[in-house]
Amino acid sequence: MKSLFDRVIGFIGAGKVGVTLGAYFQSKKINIGGYYSRNADSAANAAGLLSVKQYTDLQELLLHCDIIMITTPDDQIKNVWNELKKFNIKGKIIAHTSGSLTSGVFGGVASLGAFAVSIHPMHAFSDRDGNIEGLDQIVFTIEGDITGISLIKKMLTDLGNQVLVIESENKACYHLANVMASNLVLALLKISSECLAQCGINQTVAIEALMPLIMNNIENIRIKGFHNALTGPIERNDVGTITQHLAVVPGDYESIYKNLSLILLKLAIEKNPTRDYGVIEDLLTVSSNND
Ligand SMILES: NC(=O)c1ccc[n+]([C@@H]2O[C@H](COP(=O)([O-])OP(=O)(O)OC[C@H]3O[C@@H](n4cnc5c(N)ncnc54)[C@H](OP(=O)(O)O)[C@@H]3O)[C@@H](O)[C@H]2O)c1
Repeated sequence: MKSLFDRVIGFIGAGKVGVTLGAYFQSKKINIGGYYSRNADSAANAAGLLSVKQYTDLQELLLHCDIIMITTPDDQIKNVWNELKKFNIKGKIIAHTSGSLTSGVFGGVASLGAFAVSIHPMHAFSDRDGNIEGLDQIVFTIEGDITGISLIKKMLTDLGNQVLVIESENKACYHLANVMASNLVLALLKISSECLAQCGINQTVAIEALMPLIMNNIENIRIKGFHNALTGPIERNDVGTITQHLAVVPGDYESIYKNLSLILLKLAIEKNPTRDYGVIEDLLTVSSNND
């Protein structure tokens, strides 16, 4: 049986994730076979960047590679699978990197003698230039076939990455968690920068000014946990400040402000059980025209 470092990875989809993960795995001495992509130019660019093969058909990729990583957009994974399963895939690991889809998208895989997994890197990939900075710190979350999981988990932990294993039925909730922590934070920062724009501060200056505040807050959560990192007017029971906020918060954002503040209030009550937060609770639960 091949050792993990003798196994060859082939990528289908030479985009941001495919190129970056390929470059990362290669930097750790994992064997990359090459790239196949919808557009030959994308595959050629990726193959050139890593000095690996450009595949022009899927059968050729399957002949050379043991682990098939499908790094296309989510809505293309099923189409790619429908093509792949026409060939002999016995003994191959068939993987995709979607955060929301499970390995169940590879219907009938077990009867073809292959092992299906999803391998989600918890990272925002924004380029396909081979920059792998920070990749050795990221966590991968995997689910799927038990044999596939054990092989991929060993490979990734040997690289030094932490691996989380989840059940398929929890994948949607897992993806929701990722969206809450990244996409929705973007939305909150957009609101924050709009409020700073009201104060005459342009967006570029606003983002730079917010960074130390954001980073310090995140670091505090990491080191101290949610309760001990909690600061701000709700925790302090500053009724006057909350009243002022409610007077100036734009109507579209009032319900977001109140709903998120209620989550902070729950943490504050748990942290300071003898403090009476009744007035703030009333302010946050009274409905407005926009609720
Ligand atoms: N970006 C992230 O931050 C991130 C993070 C974690 C997971 N993911 C997941 O990783 C996967 C890839 O995301 P991405 O951001 O790398 O997307 P991307 O940059 O758009 O790259 C997708 C690549 O797949 C190629 N492709 C599209 N349809 C194809 C098909 N039918 N057959 C072969 N190749 C095809 C694309 O076309 P061309 O050949 O035209 O270039 C492109 O190169 C998705 O499942 C996504 O959910 C993304």
